[in-house]
Amino acid sequence: MKVALGCDHGGFVLKSEVVNTLKKLGADVIDFGTDSEESVDYPVYAQKVAHAVADKVCDVGVLLCGTGIGMSIAANKVKGIRAAVLSDTFSAKATKQHNNSNILCLGGRVVTPEQAAKLVTIWYTTEYEGGRHQKRVDMITEIENKNL
Ligand code: RB5
Repeated sequence: MKVALGCDHGGFVLKSEVVNTLKKLGADVIDFGTDSEESVDYPVYAQKVAHAVADKVCDVGVLLCGTGIGMSIAANKVKGIRAAVLSDTFSAKATKQHNNSNILCLGGRVVTPEQAAKLVTIWYTTEYEGGRHQKRVDMITEIENKNL
């Protein structure tokens, strides 16, 4: 799978561990930056990654900032994006099974690189369940179609 990866200075601390984890899982990682702890604006990276996923240049995306929250808010403004902020393993599995989330957001000031590796692994390897969840995901798409 092709994975779009983006981060700001707050998420940079997780970047190398996340890239290594994704590569070990067999992912083809497309890096949209940033490349240091120098201060940058997270919406820039959220938008690049969200468009790569929405335009089907990449299959899924991973966004890293201080909390994961700013990245998720920005990414979710792009039609077709279901970005989920994670810090626990239960949600990592459930958001793929139930929400078919297509972008994972993590906070470099919230989780350690080791926790990030675990969350990325669970999220990346869990399949969407479809079935009863599809109706609800379709309802999210309807909200987008009305409002975006
Ligand atoms: C940057 O200081 C910080 O605001 C950003 O990384 C992120 O946490 C925003 O949600």
